[in-house]
Amino acid sequence: MTDKHDRQQPDQDLSQVPAKPPREWDPRIDRARDFISANLPVLPVPSIPEIRLHRAGPQSGLWRLAEQDPEFGSPYWAHHWGGGLVLARYLLDRPDVVAGRPVLDLGAGSGVVGIAAAKAGATEVIAADVDPYAIAAIGLNATLNEVTVLPVLVDQAMGEPPATDIVCVGDLFYEAALAERVTAFLDLCLEQGIEVLIGDPWRAHLPHSRLRLLAEYVVPDFGAAAAGSPPSGVFAFESKTPRQNRGDEDQS
Ligand SMILES: C[S@@+](CC[C@H](N)C(=O)[O-])C[C@H]1O[C@@H](n2cnc3c(N)ncnc32)[C@H](O)[C@@H]1O
Repeated sequence: MTDKHDRQQPDQDLSQVPAKPPREWDPRIDRARDFISANLPVLPVPSIPEIRLHRAGPQSGLWRLAEQDPEFGSPYWAHHWGGGLVLARYLLDRPDVVAGRPVLDLGAGSGVVGIAAAKAGATEVIAADVDPYAIAAIGLNATLNEVTVLPVLVDQAMGEPPATDIVCVGDLFYEAALAERVTAFLDLCLEQGIEVLIGDPWRAHLPHSRLRLLAEYVVPDFGAAAAGSPPSGVFAFESKTPRQNRGDEDQS
């Protein structure tokens, strides 16, 4: 996808424009793709038997990626998270929610939510992440699951929402500053009539007062104790102004 800020104006003299790769291009994406294919086994996903993913195991040696890249961050894309699993499960159980609609998977990681949306019949799925390694993983995982998902390397908490009907957010409220930026972006989405769904295992910075619970499932969370975990939730993110929320208009 071309960012609108990168598009040439028709009257520009192209000879004066420095050659610049598209914004989503990053040389690490190709290297990551080769590494993931070679080292991360294809494994089933807990609670989502419909989907398989390249997931890190004890022998994957992710430290080798970190050694080559001083900017290597937390490899969220290599693991499963409660928020993504619960939202993917919901979309597969309720395909009517996304069928026939374009979807943005925001903070896509492995791409599990976007892949579930595509399997449920979404017309177009954009999977946005800031991490080039996630972009590589999403591409491989989409192919593995025989669906079309467009991975886009972008800080999606900045700028305008893309043209979409519904934004799906799996597990993005784990840090205060990020939660604040994401919430502001989701407010922009609501203002533009875009529906927002959130899947989350009740992380610390979830904007509780803005959420309407739609469903709960017990799903595992990477690194958390397997036994006794409370159900994770799927929520509709709602406007600050109650009258704008779905349902209120129907009663007026
Ligand atoms: C905990 S992981 C969740 C991944 C996936 N949604 C899931 O539930 O399995 C959070 C992901 O959000 C991405 N992320 C963080 N900030 C972002 C931003 N501003 N725009 C896009 N992606 C972002 C991270 O790189 C990471 O892959």
